[in-house]
Amino acid sequence: MGKDRFGVPSSRGSLLKPSSETHGAARRAAGIARKNLYGRGSPRALRPRERALLKELLPTLSVPGPLEAGALDPFSLFPSSVRSVSLEIGFGAGERFLEAARARPQTGFIGCEFYRKGIARTLSAFAAAPMANIRLYEGAGEEILDSLRDASLSEIAVLFPDPWPKRRHRRRRFSQAASLRSAARALADGGLLWIATDSPIFSAWTLMQAERVGSLFWTAARAEDWRRSPYPGVQTRYGRKAARGGRGVTHLLFRRAARADFL
Ligand SMILES: C[S@@+](CC[C@H](N)C(=O)[O-])C[C@H]1O[C@@H](n2cnc3c(N)ncnc32)[C@H](O)[C@@H]1O
Repeated sequence: MGKDRFGVPSSRGSLLKPSSETHGAARRAAGIARKNLYGRGSPRALRPRERALLKELLPTLSVPGPLEAGALDPFSLFPSSVRSVSLEIGFGAGERFLEAARARPQTGFIGCEFYRKGIARTLSAFAAAPMANIRLYEGAGEEILDSLRDASLSEIAVLFPDPWPKRRHRRRRFSQAASLRSAARALADGGLLWIATDSPIFSAWTLMQAERVGSLFWTAARAEDWRRSPYPGVQTRYGRKAARGGRGVTHLLFRRAARADFL
């Protein structure tokens, strides 16, 4: 099998249509508001190799557009050996995302991020050790959640989302009840939503929002349940920052209730 200039087997290119150009149009066409994309106003400069990865490698891994509400079957993005699909929203530099995908080859991993430097770093690590079970979406988590079929994911990870601790900025937080409802819709019965944060304000607020979503149940029974990562292993950049700063991390783990219980 041939390899492209990044060392990635070239047959990957035929798996998926290049799509990064179509996403902008898809978002506008779908009328999806990009209301939560705050805080990355002055992006860090990209190196030439990072620019090349974004231009050439990203389209071969991207979720093909245009996105339509509730239409995307995530299994269609992966080889048939994939048995379940996981979504990570805001993967940053992709440390945990790639590590999890490598450890679980029978799970398809969709990563969503709009921070270009982070996507480029993820692509660089991917190019050094490619695998067949990852796909990327450059854009907002709310958009990819809206596009997924009902009950199509087994888990969703949102690690250290921007906490927006000031009250006047709370509408910018990812864990609005509307987004949690959207996550619950995309999760299969029994599926898990994992939100990690080092902000007590954010975790308390997220619990209040989740209470408004009837189909998500917080799994914690005792304090050690939220102090422990459900998937201990590689740290993300913000996880390391929290540890260095001596801040405790809260792991909020919600389970999607069985749909039959709501009939
Ligand atoms: C504080 S960083 C955490 C990054 C990484 N998860 C970590 O633990 O190191 C939050 C990340 O979420 C991304 N982000 C913020 N809002 C988002 C949204 N609505 N959809 C997707 N990504 C988002 C940001 O670009 C940023 O990279």
